[in-house]
Amino acid sequence: MKHLKTDRVELHLGLEKPIKILHITDIHISFADDRDEEKWLEFAAHRREIFFKEGRRPERDPAGYLMEAMEYAKEFDCTVITGDLIDFNSYANYDAATEILAGKDYMFTPGSHEFCPNNFERKAERWDEMQQLFRGDMEFESRLVGGVNVITMDNSYYVWTQKQFDMLKAEVSRGYPILLFSHVPYDCPFLTHEQTGIVPPEGAKELTVEMNEYIKNQPLIKGIFTGHYHRLEYVQSGYKPHPCYIGPSLFTGCVGVITID
Ligand SMILES: [Fe+2]
Ligand SMILES: [Fe+2]
Repeated sequence: MKHLKTDRVELHLGLEKPIKILHITDIHISFADDRDEEKWLEFAAHRREIFFKEGRRPERDPAGYLMEAMEYAKEFDCTVITGDLIDFNSYANYDAATEILAGKDYMFTPGSHEFCPNNFERKAERWDEMQQLFRGDMEFESRLVGGVNVITMDNSYYVWTQKQFDMLKAEVSRGYPILLFSHVPYDCPFLTHEQTGIVPPEGAKELTVEMNEYIKNQPLIKGIFTGHYHRLEYVQSGYKPHPCYIGPSLFTGCVGVITID
């Protein structure tokens, strides 16, 4: 681990044997090549410059950090990537992502940048294309790790689906302590969509409010981990009562290390 920084969170759940989860978020790989429309070449360079400045002149580029993080992942019981792995849809970004992740074990939930531009129709159109790049099920996945139920749930456009709600309830009925991983913090003010201009499907906001209430009141949920806000280290979100952490962006060179005992 030559260039990576780590930020750490500990949870105490009374496990017989401690486990370690690597949390990677907001990589924002920004490449384009001659297979992509010409405008994307300039856009890619512009975006790389933005993340270089926002990341305070990091030593490596986002793809380099992801390679290093996936190597570091071998030391962990589970690796979870909470989205914005690519910054925009381009052939060059798809190639970079698939090459780095090939043969690696991880759980993945998408971010707001996996489906550009921001609208639900576009997201639906892009879904299969994105799903082919990553392992697992982007909408909802669960994995039992040392007695802890690690769950990824897509909320890249801020809302939940009925399928996710049903699947979460089914996981709760198994009785294991649960850690939830998603892209957007659950108390993000954009949940109203008023600032984003994205029009959610009918009933999605109401369902999201209902599911968030369920999550708040579910004692088996022991922690929530997200990204999206581009932090340099873990910050705790105001979403209560569970401990909720917004992870450090990998384009800044930092990964989250979660130890559970
Ligand atoms: Fe992001
Ligand atoms: Fe995001």
